[in-house]
Amino acid sequence: MGDVYSPMMINILVVDDDETVRESLTYVLEQEGYQVSPAASGRDALAKLQGEVFDLFLTDLNMPGMTGLEFLEAMRERQPHLTGIVLTGYGSVETAVAAMKAGAYDYISKPFDVDDLLLTVRRALEFSSLRKENSQLKRTLRSKYRFVNMIGESPAAQRIHRMIERVADTDSTVLVTGESGTGKELVARTIHFNSPRREQALVAINCGAIPEHLLESELFGHEKGAFTGATATRVGRFEMAHGGTLFLDEVGEMHPSLQVKLLRALQEREFERVGGNRTVRVDVRIIAATNQNLEAMVRERKFREDLFYRLNVIPIEVPPLRERTEDLELLITHFLDRFNGEKGRKVEGFTAEAMSLLAAYEWPGNIRELENLIERLVILEGGGIIGVDALPEKIGHRNVTAAMGRVVLPDTGLNFDDTVSEFEDALILQALERSQWVKNRAAQLLGLNRTTLVEKIKKKGLEDRYHPRLRQAEAGSASEYTQ
Ligand SMILES: Nc1ncnc2c1ncn2[C@@H]1O[C@H](COP(=O)(O)OP(=O)(O)OP(=O)(O)O)[C@@H](O)[C@H]1O
Ligand SMILES: [Mg+2]
Repeated sequence: MGDVYSPMMINILVVDDDETVRESLTYVLEQEGYQVSPAASGRDALAKLQGEVFDLFLTDLNMPGMTGLEFLEAMRERQPHLTGIVLTGYGSVETAVAAMKAGAYDYISKPFDVDDLLLTVRRALEFSSLRKENSQLKRTLRSKYRFVNMIGESPAAQRIHRMIERVADTDSTVLVTGESGTGKELVARTIHFNSPRREQALVAINCGAIPEHLLESELFGHEKGAFTGATATRVGRFEMAHGGTLFLDEVGEMHPSLQVKLLRALQEREFERVGGNRTVRVDVRIIAATNQNLEAMVRERKFREDLFYRLNVIPIEVPPLRERTEDLELLITHFLDRFNGEKGRKVEGFTAEAMSLLAAYEWPGNIRELENLIERLVILEGGGIIGVDALPEKIGHRNVTAAMGRVVLPDTGLNFDDTVSEFEDALILQALERSQWVKNRAAQLLGLNRTTLVEKIKKKGLEDRYHPRLRQAEAGSASEYTQ
């Protein structure tokens, strides 16, 4: 055997009530260089599990007290990954079979032949080492795709992670909704790569990007001669995804006539290629995505209701970036690392003022917009800490000034102090609401230091008037929240 199975490090548990058998097994195995731990009963053997780590166990089947089968059961509960071999008397093939069903890897007939025994032991060890490698491989593969690319720790992000975890193992159809650039496709990929189908194909089709008349053949394929230009039979995306996952992106864009055909394919998991009459059956898991409000489209009769329900089995709503600003810093760090690496630059971060502007910005293009901005800044700035001046106008100070510009001085004039104070109130309240009344964050958003903000809030009595908890408390017992 090769080095990997060097017997020196291998510890074998031997369970047999018959002392002669126990001793001869121990002798033979130790001669071969294995370490052996003999036990006279199942109970003794189980006790040994506390203090020792085994690579393999051999157990007799006929034992007083705990039988071999019971011992196998107990082992399966305690150490399901430990490989076991059973020892059977001659002629008791049925028990051997029962033992294999109970999880034993192989069996050896007594009285045993030494070479036969050693061969079986080696094979079992090889198997268990393969199994270990395999499960490690699977684990790394899993963690590789797990959520590495999916950054976020906000409650909203966590909710999505939990949903993905829950649905990944199933074949259920998932409908991912959210504004553009929120990460819908990333959700779809993460589901696929965490699903049992991960080693099969993930086939994506953007229903909005393909001209209507071509979409059907893209989805279902076509037979040779089905239409002008169909010079050969072509397999569609449904067939390509067989065994794997089909990602129907921008599904809201699909023409009603095709919606019918999609519905049937989803219901029956079968269809015909364009221009063909042979029925094709496929096994695909469907994940659909849209940035449209499909329910509203159903009401307006632009999207088939039956198709909507067929797709909306498990809805996952990806929130816009402005509703998860807690994740902003993490995302920025992630993108800075990535683009610094890719472009060989050394941008370190943003000034506090720039950060507060980024946090206050609405991000209509969501994470994609952030990603693009960071890429651009990394290329253009190259290094150092990025300040407000480098930010695009729409994010920079001018944004606030523009809002102020909308205040129109009435012909009759106004009370300057009151108006400025109202304006202050509005900004502070917005910051407080956006930060869920976490004053540190609100101060950051306003580019104020915390003490200044706290003083203003106190002086203006904003907390008493507007804090949601205090307002709720008013309705009930106010005494709980006297702070
Ligand atoms: N949680 C996240 N962590 C890191 N990157 C993300 C995250 N969410 C999205 N991204 C990145 O943002 C970009 C946009 O994501 P994606 O393409 O999945 O969005 P989408 O919702 O499908 O957008 P669209 O509606 O425009 O098709 C991608 O480059 C993606 O890798
Ligand atoms: Mg997308």
